[in-house]
Amino acid sequence: MKLYLILARNLFSLFDGTGIMTRNMRKPSTPVFGWVATTLMKAGNAKVAVSAVQELRVSQTDCVCEVGSGNGLALLEVVKQTSQAVYAVEISGIFRSQLRALNLGQNVSILDRDASNLKSEIDDNSIDKLLGVNLVYFLTPLNVYLDEFFRIMKPGGMGIFACKFDKIQNFDETVAPNKSEADVVQALLQSGFKATSEFIDLGDINSRYTAIKFYKPFF
Ligand SMILES: C[S@@+](CC[C@H](N)C(=O)[O-])C[C@H]1O[C@@H](n2cnc3c(N)ncnc32)[C@H](O)[C@@H]1O
Repeated sequence: MKLYLILARNLFSLFDGTGIMTRNMRKPSTPVFGWVATTLMKAGNAKVAVSAVQELRVSQTDCVCEVGSGNGLALLEVVKQTSQAVYAVEISGIFRSQLRALNLGQNVSILDRDASNLKSEIDDNSIDKLLGVNLVYFLTPLNVYLDEFFRIMKPGGMGIFACKFDKIQNFDETVAPNKSEADVVQALLQSGFKATSEFIDLGDINSRYTAIKFYKPFF
């Protein structure tokens, strides 16, 4: 294993559960902890991001919104599947710069918005597929975000939250309150979605995740 990755993992273990580490896992923003967070995301989330896009079954005619795209691991897969509009909603300026550098294409819009309010950019009933990888833990209050996702998704549209709940149980509750699969599914149902969840094991310790799949009903 590379030395810098060992260092990042050790620093994370030392500070796991602190407010500053959790805030940087939500949105990398300070030099040392931000570096730890971005390093761990890049090294640990690639397989899950690719698998989550496969689970989403994006077609050439799908409009897609990814919330919390980070360094673009999932987005790189999404743009291979569709030529329609793709929105990457990302509150981190560092990540938005990295996403722009990927030159993903004319159909990709990188939005510097909090996902709780996308009214000025994304129309009602316009998104076929919505994705959030390692995101839902941080959305608070969760129902406000889910209502916004319900607004932008088309009837019949599908979303996936890819979650590693086992890895985030020590996170600071005030920053990451959504630590339970059952609670997230319940919140989705309350917002009007249909929801199911599935545990997916891609073979190594960083690549086991829960895919919470949700659907906006036609009626
Ligand atoms: C834990 S990181 C995951 C990044 C990437 N999806 C991955 O799995 O590597 C969470 C990401 O969501 C973004 N984010 C967090 N809260 C957000 C919000 N309310 N609206 C938009 N983006 C948000 C952060 O900036 C960060 O890029």
